[in-house]
Amino acid sequence: MFEVLQDVGPYCLCLYAVLGVGAMAFVMRQFQQQPNRESSNIPPGSLGLPFIGETFHFMASINSHKGFYDFVRLRTLRYGNCFKTNIFGETHVFVRSTASAKTILNNEMGRFSKRYIKSIAELVGNRSLLCASPHHHKLLRARLLNLFSSNSLSLLVKHLDPLIVDALSAWEDGGTVIVLHEALKITLKAMCKMLLSLESGAELESLQEDVSQVCKAMLAFPFRFPWTPFYKGLQARKRIMSTLEKIISRRRRSLDPNFEDFLQSLLDNSCWEGMNRLTDAEIQDNILTMIIAGQDTTASAITWMVKYLGENEEALDAIKAEAEQLADKTSKNPFLTLDDLNEMPYASKVVKESLRMASVVPWFPRLVLEDCEIEGYKIKKGWNVNIDARSIHLDPRVYNEPHKFNPWRFDDEQCCKPYSFLAFGMGARTCLGINMAKAMMLVFLHRLLTTYKWKVMDSDSTTEKWALFSRLRSGCPVKVTRITNIE
Ligand code: HEM
Repeated sequence: MFEVLQDVGPYCLCLYAVLGVGAMAFVMRQFQQQPNRESSNIPPGSLGLPFIGETFHFMASINSHKGFYDFVRLRTLRYGNCFKTNIFGETHVFVRSTASAKTILNNEMGRFSKRYIKSIAELVGNRSLLCASPHHHKLLRARLLNLFSSNSLSLLVKHLDPLIVDALSAWEDGGTVIVLHEALKITLKAMCKMLLSLESGAELESLQEDVSQVCKAMLAFPFRFPWTPFYKGLQARKRIMSTLEKIISRRRRSLDPNFEDFLQSLLDNSCWEGMNRLTDAEIQDNILTMIIAGQDTTASAITWMVKYLGENEEALDAIKAEAEQLADKTSKNPFLTLDDLNEMPYASKVVKESLRMASVVPWFPRLVLEDCEIEGYKIKKGWNVNIDARSIHLDPRVYNEPHKFNPWRFDDEQCCKPYSFLAFGMGARTCLGINMAKAMMLVFLHRLLTTYKWKVMDSDSTTEKWALFSRLRSGCPVKVTRITNIE
């Protein structure tokens, strides 16, 4: 054995020494990791191999059709409500109780902060709301929140409804439609119209392609070789930034005050009383952020909703009755208004139930800023805690028969514990586009229900590989039949 080591030279000796020390450290760590609550009070779980942690297991889940959530699911089964792991060289703790969600999302005593890994910040831009420091985030969020007034929601509905009517009218009667593909096109168009007044043409098409490259790169290893997804994502970001620059300079040159979009509000000095105007770089990063945060999530949620309804006759009948009533009431108006959405109480519960069951954003990470205790375990400064929203949404102690699609469960407004519905997060980082997303889902639903009958052609519920959010792998193919042709 010793001879062999001598033969292979000093570099390999070093390597063996490193491996030997690593292996010892690993064995010692495994001893430390026994879920011996009395002695350590550290959450149970494995930190995996030295240096690499459980990164490969995590990547394997991302690369499987069970989806990245499977990594969490398996460890929850093994270790219970709270466990730790190591991914990309950092310790992550996952928690799944409403009490922990409240503590962390309310950021009690300023002990938790949202942080994205450096590679994600490079893709969305370090002036993005997602990556800003807590202080900068507060300022940015206050400015962006201005854009999400009820006035802009009315405008969204005004623009969105014709767009959806148009998209649905192009579906072939009796044909098969992949709901996710259609929903992605619709949500991108709606977001681009709302943000930039961009409706069609080459700029919209290239934005669509580039945004999807950036989303893919967000989960990839940050290798910068020209053939890697991360590199392609960075290139796509550059193209998006240059398109946005061109749009901003066109807008300044045209001096047309009639644009009713977010960009116009961001460029308009009069909107910023008492606040500093955003720089062009901040505007560009945050427009990209809003497209990424809003398009894929809403399209995925729409897809799950169509699937759940297609597979639940009772809920479908109830929602159809409501949609027909609204259609009668609004028959004289060509398009829906924001007020009409208030006439859809059952549909709103369908939206909520779909979001609960699908958990499009399955967990929310936060950086721990000082040592603290969660679920009776010691959590150290520098670790990441992740609120496992999906587990909370599917916990039988929180929701009765959680795997059953039952929009009626929300009839009683007191039905659910605080912090049990986390589809849009909670606290200072709650989704900015919450009402926009709900409006898009409601308008889509109304037009689908009043135009087509549909049959889900593939009941597979597995999720897409390498997707940033929980997206149905099949995209939910449905066979559609135009309602006028049934009667
Ligand atoms: C069904 C669709 C959507 C879902 C499920 C969703 C979900 C979420 C969740 C869970 C968070 C918080 C994550 C955390 O606390 O770590 C979030 C944040 C955010 N969402 Fe959404 N979202 C949706 C649609 C939208 C839309 C349409 C927009 C449009 C602008 C948007 C913009 C944002 C932004 C900017 C943030 C970051 C807020 C901040 O950090 O202060 N989202 N979203």
